[in-house]
Amino acid sequence: MASNASSLHTVRRSMLLQRVPLFADFSAAECTHIAALLREQRYKKHAVICHANDPGNALFLLTAGTVQMTVETADARELVLGLLYPGDFFGEMALIDHLPRSATVTTLEPSETLVLMQEAFVDLLQRTPALARKFAETLSRRLRKACDLVRSLAFLDAHGKVARILFTLSNERGRDTPPGTLVEMRLTQHDVARLTGVTRETAAHVLRDFQQAGYVRMTRGSIVVLEQAMLAQLAQV
Ligand code: CMP
Repeated sequence: MASNASSLHTVRRSMLLQRVPLFADFSAAECTHIAALLREQRYKKHAVICHANDPGNALFLLTAGTVQMTVETADARELVLGLLYPGDFFGEMALIDHLPRSATVTTLEPSETLVLMQEAFVDLLQRTPALARKFAETLSRRLRKACDLVRSLAFLDAHGKVARILFTLSNERGRDTPPGTLVEMRLTQHDVARLTGVTRETAAHVLRDFQQAGYVRMTRGSIVVLEQAMLAQLAQV
C-alpha cells in the first residue's frame, strides 16, 4: 500500500517535471527516474522560500504560482529583481558558486515547487550536457534582463520605469483580449513601487497618469494594457 502511494507520487512528480522547460527533452523514463529524487513543497501567499545570505543546498522548480526575487539595502529598502512563473527554476546560483543565496525569494500567490537537493542537481548537470546547455541559455537570458533592469534604474524616469514593468508583464504574462493585453495578476501600487524602485506615491501618480491617458486599465486582480506601443516607447524598448 505504502509503495503504491509512493509510486503514485513519483508519477505525479514526473508529470509535473515534464512541464518544466529545462526537462522538456527528457524521456518519460528519465523524468520518472529524476522524479524519485524530488520533493514537493507547497507555500501560502507571501511565504519566504529562501532568504538572501542564507546558505543554499537545493534547487527549486516552480510548478504553480509566482515568486519574486528581492534584495534589501541596509536601511530596509527593497528592490524586486524579477518575477518567476510556473516552469521556471531558482536557487541554482548558491549551488553553482557555493556562495550564500543572492536574493530572497517570496511567493506572490499560493505556489508549489519541486525541490532537488544539491548533490543530485550537481550530479545530473555533470551527466547531462543538454541540461547544462539549457541552464546556460536561461542564465544568459536572466543576465540580459538584469542588464535591462540596471539600464532602467540608471536612465529612465519614473514614467519610463513603470512603463517598463507594465510592458514586461504584458509581454511575459499577457494574453490578447478584445480591449487589449490582459494580465491576470493582482498588482498594488506598493507592488509597482517595489518592482520599479520608485516610491509608492510616485507609483500611484504615474499609474493615475497612465490610466487617464488610456494606456492601461487596472482593477483588483488584473491589468489590461491598452497601448502597448506607447509603454514600449516610454520604456525605450
Ligand atoms: P540563489 O542565489 O541560490 O538564491 C536566490 C535565487 O534567486 C538565485 O539563486 C536565482 O535563482 C534567483 N535570482 C537572483 N537574482 C536573480 C535575477 N536577477 N534574475 C533572476 N533570478 C534571480
